[in-house]
Amino acid sequence: MVVPDSQDNMFYPPLDLQQKAHVQDFETYLELYKKSIENPDAFWKEVAAEFFWKKPATGPTLRYNFDLTKGSVFVKCLEGAKTNVCHNVLDRHVNEGNLGEKVAYYWEGNSPDQHAEITYSHLLSRVCGCANVLKKLGVKKGDRVSIYLPMVPELVYSMLACARVGAVHSVVFAGFSSESLCERITDAQSSVLITADGVYRGEKLINLKQIVDEALARCRERGCSSVTKCLVVKHPALRTKTGASCHKLQTPWDRSRDLWWDEAMRDSPDQCEPEWMDSEDPLFILYTSGSTGKPKGVVHTVAGYLLYTYLTFKYVFDHHPGDVFWCTADIGWITGHSYITYGPLANGATSVLFEGVPTYPHVGRFWEIIQKYKVSKFYTAPTAIRLLMKYGREPLQKFDLSSLRVLGSVGEPINPEAWLWYHSVVGQSRCPVVDTFWQTETGGHVLTPLPAATPLKPGSATFPFFGVEPSVLNEHGEELQGEAEGYLVFRRPWPGIMRTLHKNQEGFENTYFRKFPGFYVTGDGCRRDKDGYYWITGRIDDMLNVSGHLLSTSEVEGALTQHPGVAEAAVVGRPHQVKGECLHCFVSLKGNTEFTLGLVQELKTLVREKIGPIATPDFIQNAPALPKTRSGKILRRVLRQIARNDRDLGDLSTLADPKVVELLFNQRNEA
Ligand code: PRX
Repeated sequence: MVVPDSQDNMFYPPLDLQQKAHVQDFETYLELYKKSIENPDAFWKEVAAEFFWKKPATGPTLRYNFDLTKGSVFVKCLEGAKTNVCHNVLDRHVNEGNLGEKVAYYWEGNSPDQHAEITYSHLLSRVCGCANVLKKLGVKKGDRVSIYLPMVPELVYSMLACARVGAVHSVVFAGFSSESLCERITDAQSSVLITADGVYRGEKLINLKQIVDEALARCRERGCSSVTKCLVVKHPALRTKTGASCHKLQTPWDRSRDLWWDEAMRDSPDQCEPEWMDSEDPLFILYTSGSTGKPKGVVHTVAGYLLYTYLTFKYVFDHHPGDVFWCTADIGWITGHSYITYGPLANGATSVLFEGVPTYPHVGRFWEIIQKYKVSKFYTAPTAIRLLMKYGREPLQKFDLSSLRVLGSVGEPINPEAWLWYHSVVGQSRCPVVDTFWQTETGGHVLTPLPAATPLKPGSATFPFFGVEPSVLNEHGEELQGEAEGYLVFRRPWPGIMRTLHKNQEGFENTYFRKFPGFYVTGDGCRRDKDGYYWITGRIDDMLNVSGHLLSTSEVEGALTQHPGVAEAAVVGRPHQVKGECLHCFVSLKGNTEFTLGLVQELKTLVREKIGPIATPDFIQNAPALPKTRSGKILRRVLRQIARNDRDLGDLSTLADPKVVELLFNQRNEA
């Protein structure tokens, strides 16, 4: 890597940000990166020195085997050390850092009139209270606790309470169905489940406890009776100020199993000695979808995850004490685990914890919240950006966004059009956009710009974070040098990488290490340009082979969304007699654009122009909506079946709106 030449299409860090930044220029990034690669032990030991260790490490910061041909794959960080993550992210700040009165979270409910401030000392006392409740319910070190909660403060209390007593939390996104919840409880064999009676999502009231009861009934039918206690939070939006219920939900109740959170907490002491954990004890399990359809229980451990989320948060968002950070993800996903709960708290940061949706009660809700809390660092997903782009500039102009300093993007490749809109309209051309590439499995950012150091190219996740060594391989596992396109892999671990799949070491090795021994395989394709910038081209499993050429669906999508009439596009492969595979494109149009033959022609020409004749779509279909999970991920598997006119659709339980599927089948013939 060298300092990139000045180029027209690059965006350089603003001077005022550089002056105070942790990493002030690209040369400093290169120096630190070099140290992290050449002397990882010294690099990570310095980071570890910021934390409290009940017992220091006896081993090196990282000991590992990535090469399956030499035996089982493992990663160990700071072996021999004993610590507690909860102590490090709370007690350390309250007792030694004098941060007790600092706000840890501004909680903003679904409805703007619901909000609360939670200081570090309040957080600590609630966490200890919950930890004591868990102990009373019989939870011990190593036990699993499933958490199925909306974005209420109790979600953070529960996670940290687990960390405090040494239990392993398994947070299940509260938009998941009872079937998905059951599957995750059964795999984890959790003994306690923490949930809420209900929640409003926009205007819709959801009976969470009903879903929980259905899930637990399913578990029992399948022979899993691990859950013996269910702790139920009374959602404040479902209560009047006096605590009386103000909704029409029936909350099913099993007196031998269920207890109300507030009653259990009432007499629970607010002090609790942390359980001192080995550095490699598991901290949590988080399920992520697998290509086989069965969710994979990704396991993260105590010391490495703490170090890595701490450091990535500090550098990637260039965190400083006066900042207000807002990550819009749900804690049910890894983004929320790492950058709402652990990373910000490890840094003693102030965050916004937002329960609602971007368009309720109006489409300017995000901008209103940024103004309200003077958010300085804002982290969201391209899908949200594209959604909000549809409404134009007007909703933003009503609010003061001058507090913003750094913008972040995560979860999928961000198309240059969305990147530029984010940069110029949201960030008023003042804020760098950090496009952070990472995965549930990586624990934290692995390819990412640093906002005051990295010249940006819209759509590129730029360079590796400290300690991360990427490589690009071809189909035969050969490492490609210089400008190249192929499989994105990593040749060594960093502290935050996953350790195994829960009860499935074999699946772990097969999924990530079998294809190219010696490397962690991300499953993503990438391109490295002549300046060494990495561009994620999408999942390899979304790669298409058209007439013997590898094509990335996200690349075609990027071209389609450059058309001013297109809001969103999803491209899948469809069998073709001559070419092997061809492209079937689903396009969602902006409000006043009509789907006409002329438009189809324009889009085909655009793709031809942007990528080349090989990428010319054979089919372009109008898609008033796309089949998405509740977290906004497009279910390409379903689109592939629609493109093929095949109704063997498999499990549709994760779809936010199943009606979309029929609609797309009906409109398919017009493609
Ligand atoms: O394909 C990549 C995409 O999201 C995948 C990981 O998904 P998940 O484990 O759910 O974690 C999402 C949040 C970290 C990756 O394999 N992805 C994530 N971030 C980016 C991305 N693709 C392109 N650019 C990104 N910045």
